[in-house]
Amino acid sequence: MIEKTTESGAETTADWRAAGQAWGERARDWAYLFEPYAIPSFDTVLARAAVVEGTRLLDVGCGSGLAATFARRLGANVRGIDASEELLAIARDRVPDADFRAADLFDLPFPEASFDVVTSFNSIWFGNDGALVEIERVLAPGGIAALTFWGDPSRMDHAAYFLAVAACSTSDEGDEVIDLGKIAEPGVAESMLAATGLQPTERGSVRCVSEWPDRDIAARAMAAPGVAHHAIRHSGLDVFVATALERDRAPPHRPRLPPGFRSRLPHRDQAVSAALRFCRRLRPTAHPGATDVV
Ligand SMILES: C[S@@+](CC[C@H](N)C(=O)[O-])C[C@H]1O[C@@H](n2cnc3c(N)ncnc32)[C@H](O)[C@@H]1O
Repeated sequence: MIEKTTESGAETTADWRAAGQAWGERARDWAYLFEPYAIPSFDTVLARAAVVEGTRLLDVGCGSGLAATFARRLGANVRGIDASEELLAIARDRVPDADFRAADLFDLPFPEASFDVVTSFNSIWFGNDGALVEIERVLAPGGIAALTFWGDPSRMDHAAYFLAVAACSTSDEGDEVIDLGKIAEPGVAESMLAATGLQPTERGSVRCVSEWPDRDIAARAMAAPGVAHHAIRHSGLDVFVATALERDRAPPHRPRLPPGFRSRLPHRDQAVSAALRFCRRLRPTAHPGATDVV
């Protein structure tokens, strides 16, 4: 959870290192059991942002570096920042020639206009407006910023995950978790971006699916995100994973996975799907033709 204060007129995290510790507690479980669900969004966003050989790319909240891996394969000159040293260690193993730094996404350690593309996969949420201001600052004129976040809860089995986290947290912490998802509501991300001077160009959705072979692995995966930290501390690990497994089920009236995926899974309640939205933004200083690359 990100707590923000305003000091000297600049919005920043009060304790980004605490966020990093929460995300680092189960870093390997996050990297190997949860993070891969987002691969379709990495592919889509990097293609839409036209990442090619030599693109100067920054991934904000890069976690364990899976998106950076894909960007590097495309030839990008990759940098990433994250609050978690444990996740960054995995990222460095995955992409040894990238530049990964422990830093606050509200205070990026780079000069202005340093990057052609800035991505942020599920690391910027409702209320994190200051992070967008920083992205705008480090983006070169004509550059592209792209962010993803979980989409319309009515189409997303994983929406129940947030509810499980909230149910197992204190009411204040639970409310904060639910609030994060407000970024997916119509027009909210656009308003946040417009306030920074970034110009919206595209918004779409990508279907992402978590595949877990059994309930034990699913339980380990669900305990891994840092957002579950308060819930586990408040209610205990066993109660939290039981709640998450119980709630994170598809409504019975519709299939939870496309047929091709379902046939590869032993039981229908052992996997979940998530629709995930992405946005692409141009700085107002971008050349007009750039908005046509959609
Ligand atoms: C949902 S994870 C996404 C990780 C990665 N982008 C991915 O798609 O797998 C959110 C990430 O944001 C990082 N984070 C949270 N608060 C942060 C802050 N204030 N500054 C930098 N990173 C932060 C966490 O450590 C975590 O790696």
